[in-house]
Amino acid sequence: METDPNGKKILVTGGAGFIGSHVVDCLVAKGYKPVVIDNLSSGKISNLNAHTKFYEIDITEQIQLNRVFDQERPAMVLHFAAQTSVAFSIENPSFDARVNILGSLNLFEVAKKYQVRRMVLASTGGAIYGEPKTLPCEEVDVLNPLAPYGISKMAMEHFATSYQLRDFDVVTLRLGNVYGPRQDPNGEAGVIAIFAGKMVSGEDIVVYGQGEQQRDFVYVDDVVEASMKALFGEGIGVYNISSGLGVTVNTIVDKLRSLLDWQGEVRYQVAREGEVFKIYLSSTKALNAFGWEAKVPLDEGLMKTATYIRSQIS
Ligand SMILES: NC(=O)c1ccc[n+]([C@@H]2O[C@H](COP(=O)([O-])OP(=O)(O)OC[C@H]3O[C@@H](n4cnc5c(N)ncnc54)[C@H](O)[C@@H]3O)[C@@H](O)[C@H]2O)c1
Repeated sequence: METDPNGKKILVTGGAGFIGSHVVDCLVAKGYKPVVIDNLSSGKISNLNAHTKFYEIDITEQIQLNRVFDQERPAMVLHFAAQTSVAFSIENPSFDARVNILGSLNLFEVAKKYQVRRMVLASTGGAIYGEPKTLPCEEVDVLNPLAPYGISKMAMEHFATSYQLRDFDVVTLRLGNVYGPRQDPNGEAGVIAIFAGKMVSGEDIVVYGQGEQQRDFVYVDDVVEASMKALFGEGIGVYNISSGLGVTVNTIVDKLRSLLDWQGEVRYQVAREGEVFKIYLSSTKALNAFGWEAKVPLDEGLMKTATYIRSQIS
């Protein structure tokens, strides 16, 4: 369908990636034909819904970004394109900043120029608060990121606030540890996909630290729903989006072990720099503001993810 249901065009950056591609699928199911921008650095053409208009460009390229906005004139933008690895950001802080801060700024400037009405941003709940003093983390808590990735997302959030005042509405989603089909099992981020990928291939897995670190896992369909509520709602602001449950890495290993009937070994290695020990998020603000809460239980989400990864690898 060429005409979007309400006559407003939607542009998705990072729409060939893990989360972005699920968001695009949902928009297509609603009758939209989203415009997708992605440089395919980690995204894949095979993730890309056929009912999109795709531009293979980099968000750091302002001239190309301008051209797309001039051509497409989107009314609303969902921004998922990013350098997403905490570990990579520690080794390559300038690259991380170039994509996550300067790339986002490029996008904001072009959005302002072409009078975008509304922007939804993917930020991080897991890497922006630092090691929490109280749990669960709330949006009003102090931001104390331990690694360049969290710092660049924090900077993106702050820059967005200045556009919020004058140019377009901004809803920022601080996502927990998102997991589900299409997450790259060979990537740097996404412990569930990495473990499941190794287990399906019959390999041993590496756990950094003792495995007792806690994370807050949220299934990708829940994140898609939060993105839709953020995009089509009226509100603005910053919202944690996660399950609110602290789950240890060892628990994930055990659950995947029995789901995938894995016989391999866990090799424990020194904990990684820049990663918090224990974090989970309160999403009460999102519940009160736009009626969102995580619905998919961990066991169900793990089952769907494991089934998907098995279908890809075997
Ligand atoms: N997966 C998680 O657990 C999680 C948690 C918190 C926040 N986030 C955020 O959600 C967003 C999506 O993450 P994801 O897990 O789907 O990762 P992903 O790597 O699958 O998706 C990112 C997409 O952006 C594209 N991209 C990267 N750099 C680009 C650039 N310079 N120009 C254009 N496109 C570029 C990649 O090719 C990829 O398709 C990111 O902003 C990430 O920081 C993810």
